[in-house]
Amino acid sequence: MVYFQKYYYKDHHQRQIRKLDETFGCDSKNIKEDLRLIKRVKSKLFHLLYLSFLSCSFIWLSQIFGFPFSFSCIHHGAENFSYEKLSVDPPIASSLSIGTLYCDRSHFRTDICFMKGDIRTNSSSSSIILYTQTNTKAAPLSDIPTKFEEYELEHETIKPYTRKWETSVMNTIDQIHLISKYKPISHHKCDVSHDVPAIFFSTGGYTGNVYHEFNDGIIPLYITSQQFNKEVIFVILEYHSWWYTKYQQVLAQLSNYRPIIFNSNSKTHCFQEAVVGLKIHDELTIDSSLSKANIIGFRNLLSRAFEAPKGLLVVNHYNKRPRMVLLSRRGSRGITNERALVKLAQKIGFDVLILKPNRKTELATIYKAISNSDVMFGVHGAAMTHFLFLNPNCTLVQVIPLGTEWPSETYYGQPAKNMGLKYIGYKIHPRESSLYYKYDKDDPILRDPNSVNKKGWEFTKKVYLDDQNVRLDLRRVQKLLLRVHDDYFTK
Ligand SMILES: *[C@@H]1O[C@H](CO)[C@@H](O)[C@H](O)[C@H]1NC(C)=O
Ligand SMILES: *[C@@H]1O[C@H](CO)[C@@H](O)[C@H](O)[C@H]1NC(C)=O
Ligand SMILES: *[C@@H]1O[C@H](CO)[C@@H](O)[C@H](O)[C@H]1NC(C)=O
Repeated sequence: MVYFQKYYYKDHHQRQIRKLDETFGCDSKNIKEDLRLIKRVKSKLFHLLYLSFLSCSFIWLSQIFGFPFSFSCIHHGAENFSYEKLSVDPPIASSLSIGTLYCDRSHFRTDICFMKGDIRTNSSSSSIILYTQTNTKAAPLSDIPTKFEEYELEHETIKPYTRKWETSVMNTIDQIHLISKYKPISHHKCDVSHDVPAIFFSTGGYTGNVYHEFNDGIIPLYITSQQFNKEVIFVILEYHSWWYTKYQQVLAQLSNYRPIIFNSNSKTHCFQEAVVGLKIHDELTIDSSLSKANIIGFRNLLSRAFEAPKGLLVVNHYNKRPRMVLLSRRGSRGITNERALVKLAQKIGFDVLILKPNRKTELATIYKAISNSDVMFGVHGAAMTHFLFLNPNCTLVQVIPLGTEWPSETYYGQPAKNMGLKYIGYKIHPRESSLYYKYDKDDPILRDPNSVNKKGWEFTKKVYLDDQNVRLDLRRVQKLLLRVHDDYFTK
């Protein structure tokens, strides 16, 4: 496992280094305002921008020849899914008695602690203190020296981040102390008293890579906060303002309150109930057998977060051509014959939209582009995470470069199927890989990627992830796209 976690971390750093990697994806006619993004492109990138314009114009030419058929997965997008109403767990803490500090450390991915009673934060000592007037510990009262005002009953520590098994990243996560104290007379003052529960979690670690932001953060936050019905306050450790900016629309669907920044906030916040840490089920997945939360509920939440209010929403599918959004990568794992691919897809009958998301692209923009598409097409990489924005029954095509089968399936293929998407993994042939021109035909790198992967992550990363482009065999792709296209008309 560790192997690919490192890979994602690296991916993240690469992105940070590629500062020039601004957005200039072109967009459909009904989301033209996104062209505003182009303004942000630095002048150095002007020639690229120019190319982008070119491709936009020829992409949308295809719209003129629309088919009068009715189909598509996206018409169902904004409608109600009845699952949502089921997604309310009974509040966990209601089953706990006042004065309880309880940690569940049984899961391999995460620890989670619960507190109930007179809870006070103290960020200067990285602690949350639970005061109790009854001595819940075995120590008889007479043992407590009376001169001690406070008496520590329990002391737990936790790093509220969902990659517990991965020591290297957990070493970077701030630890927090949960202390329950016996105190006969409570005379602490609160700077701010809250009458709704708190959820404490960290946005450190791999935050900065969109896969991790959803997998380790947003989805676990959804699972954990579901039961509170937005009546919950998020207290964030290792807060980043860009993260808040990026996800605030989603957060607003999970909580009615502004989050509290734990680290820099010296005030004493008082709560009656707190959850420290997040629940997580699996890769980009919500297991509805473990919780009443489910992935369709999450998908609906995204649509509430990003879609214009009903009435303002322009659903513009009168052209009736299926739409394909192509997630374009630059650097490693790019498609070198992307233009030919676009032309081919148009010829087959798709309207094609090229999207090049990066860390600065607004999520709402990406959401709009993808949720208005029937097919998402891209090469394996963190941007595949955006399959979460597709509507149920839509299609994800993931191009799987040599040597990346396992992560492609584990991180995106299976989760996409779990969400009810049609998933097609397109395993490239050696000849479609740039490695084909770099290594001898009998080299195990081409012939037997598994044997290379077995040598260790450094090899995989260096050979397959950081240094491989894809030149798609258009005859193969044509077959695939024809099938996807025909699927829509045989529904
Ligand atoms: C969605 O739900 C609302 C309220 O429950 C209802 O008024 C509306 O008709 C539903 N829409 C669809 C498309 O089912
Ligand atoms: C917070 O913790 C620090 C360090 O332990 C301590 O000096 C301070 O008094 C505490 N603040 C409150 C309000 O309890
Ligand atoms: C998805 O497709 C299946 C089978 O065609 C259909 O039963 C189901 O209602 C569809 N779901 C949505 C949300 O359109």
